[in-house]
Amino acid sequence: MRTLDSYDFSGKKALVRVDFNVPLNDKFEITDDTRIKATVPTITKILNDGGACILMSHLGRPKNGPTEKYSLKHLVTPLSLIFGRTVKFADDCIGEQATGLAANLQPGEILLLENLRFYKEEEKGDEEFAQKLAKLGDVWVMDAFGTAHRAHASTAVIGQYFPDKVCGYVMQAELDNAQRILEHAERPFTAIMGGAKISDKILIIERLLDNVDNLIIGGGMSYTFSKAKGGNIGKSLLEADKQDLTLEILEKAKSKGVNIILPLDNVIADDFSNDANRQTVKAGEIPDGWEGLDIGPESVKLFLDIVANSKTILWNGPMGVFEFPNFAVGTNAIAEAVVKATEENDAFSLIGGGDSASAVNNAGYGDRVSYVSTGGGALLEYMEGKTLPGVAALEA
Ligand code: 3PG
Ligand code: MG
Repeated sequence: MRTLDSYDFSGKKALVRVDFNVPLNDKFEITDDTRIKATVPTITKILNDGGACILMSHLGRPKNGPTEKYSLKHLVTPLSLIFGRTVKFADDCIGEQATGLAANLQPGEILLLENLRFYKEEEKGDEEFAQKLAKLGDVWVMDAFGTAHRAHASTAVIGQYFPDKVCGYVMQAELDNAQRILEHAERPFTAIMGGAKISDKILIIERLLDNVDNLIIGGGMSYTFSKAKGGNIGKSLLEADKQDLTLEILEKAKSKGVNIILPLDNVIADDFSNDANRQTVKAGEIPDGWEGLDIGPESVKLFLDIVANSKTILWNGPMGVFEFPNFAVGTNAIAEAVVKATEENDAFSLIGGGDSASAVNNAGYGDRVSYVSTGGGALLEYMEGKTLPGVAALEA
């Protein structure tokens, strides 16, 4: 794979696929700009070389062509502030205006194209559409790790139309850090898995059983384990058809000598709301009509001990419904413990994207862990051992 450092962009127009699929509030303000800030080094390198940047991305999942809500025009002002220069905007990603703006782009300038997914051809991986995009630039830089698991026109198909394909710094860092975790993890290696669904995480859990010393399981998916072991979980999240699977995971872990740690207690609620009545009970003793929304203090203590003694930590998925402050205690305690292990025990800590990344970033810990991934699904698929189309396109 060609690295960004090995390429001189002087006089070139780089067509850069970024993942600017960021959360916006109802005033179209960005609520987490991690994915944008992550691309600053890539864009700076291209511009400093004397190149120009044509940025292309998707935003959300628009179904019916151009939609105000999903327009990338909402990003123009914040991008100008982050990159410290004017960002030009083409309100269609292909066509006359985009072609004209791209043709006239000068070294040191940035052009942002409108949402690629306003064309259904993007997600279909349409070759003609990819070719039209390709005409806008001289060299393709793939830096959208968060979308590298999609075989779309701009993330994969487009590669064949460029003699020069370059791996951006975000992509490179993501791949290096994931490999470090999977191939050279210093021990003890602890994975903390949370989030709602076992079905989303089962493949990575199976793979991790070959690598880790400790596997901590919290969050919504822990209730299916608890139920399968004969516990009462009230109206907590349950994937009824995954109960046998959880028992198999426990068996496999045992045979591989992996220490699996489930919550000892839970904070439960009589309603799915921040203001619900709440109490702490032992895991597996949740009364009818109540649901587990966080791990309890005994679990926090146990999990913190394990994290404190780890040299490598992978965290993916919250311990509870951290969007509700009353049920964010467990998730925040884990975030703090991971920071502490990183700073005081010199542990390498990788925070998987999605909710655990937002939890860490929102708590202001983003730069106090070793790495916060910009990929959710993409990181999981990469760690499961799948070939990501966006990576394959760079290697072709
Ligand atoms: C994401 O946020 O998961 C990536 O940007 C990819 O988006 P998608 O899941 O809609 O393909
Ligand atoms: Mg996704």
